[in-house]
Amino acid sequence: MNGPSILKGAGVEGHQVAGLWWVMFALAAGVYVVVGGFVIYAILRGRWSRREPFVGRRMSDDAFVVIGGIVVPIAILLVLAVLTVRTSTTARAAVKGGVQIEVVGRRWFWDVRYPDAQVNTANEVRIPVNRPVTLKLTSTDVIHSFWVPDVAGKLDTIPGQTNYLHLRVTKAGTYLGECAEYCGLQHANMRLALIALPPADFDRWLTRRAAVVPSPTNELEARGEQVFTREACAGCHTIKGTTASGVVGPDLTDLGERGWLGALTIRNTPENLQAWITDSQSIKRGNVMPPFSLAGDDMQALVAYLESLK
Ligand code: CUA
Repeated sequence: MNGPSILKGAGVEGHQVAGLWWVMFALAAGVYVVVGGFVIYAILRGRWSRREPFVGRRMSDDAFVVIGGIVVPIAILLVLAVLTVRTSTTARAAVKGGVQIEVVGRRWFWDVRYPDAQVNTANEVRIPVNRPVTLKLTSTDVIHSFWVPDVAGKLDTIPGQTNYLHLRVTKAGTYLGECAEYCGLQHANMRLALIALPPADFDRWLTRRAAVVPSPTNELEARGEQVFTREACAGCHTIKGTTASGVVGPDLTDLGERGWLGALTIRNTPENLQAWITDSQSIKRGNVMPPFSLAGDDMQALVAYLESLK
């Protein structure tokens, strides 16, 4: 996964935004060249005129200021205004029959739900390539902003309000998304991965996720499940098929399938998961998860169980 860029245009909407950016860049570059030309001309002319006086016709100073300082800027801004409104209207136009996904910005992670399939996950949003997708965005605490620069413009998630982001990704891949509205201490660690899959892979994934109720496959994992439901974990997290149904933290039903922990703060490895459970505050200070100390065997079982959730 590369750093995000609005210029890659991996989605239809991202492509439109990139097009607009290039127009703005071209106009700005044009203004820069013209103004720079005048500055250079003024410097050189200052030197020449010491030797010989200026001859020939020139525009009056007033006309120059009115044209260069008022008429031209208004014309440029008008062109940009029309293009911007047109681009955002096209990009925001609703699409029917797309995949519906609900995304809730939380401090500091993203709840992700596929309501039709009743699949819940977090921070890693799988979508099909070349199919319209509608993201239903909201928040339950403060204002966040959902932004995956490669594929579409950003849109705020606002408590008590639902915003709809329509997009169609044209290239399969994993795209980095970030919270683009300052939301507190861990704003910088509120990332997400938009994973665009070939449609058949996406359908297979969603069908499997909807059907699978993860269950321990060996003694260690079974003990881990007991630890999870016995300890405070279950009060804050949900795992489908268990008694754990907390909603304070992210749903962990598919944790073993995720590439990262803590909204892309660290990679999802057994070592990192153990470090996170033991003291997530030293990794992502201010998040709501308290530190846990468990007897060595219990910790090992818990980590094995969580990583088995696929
Ligand atoms: Cu959430 Cu910034």
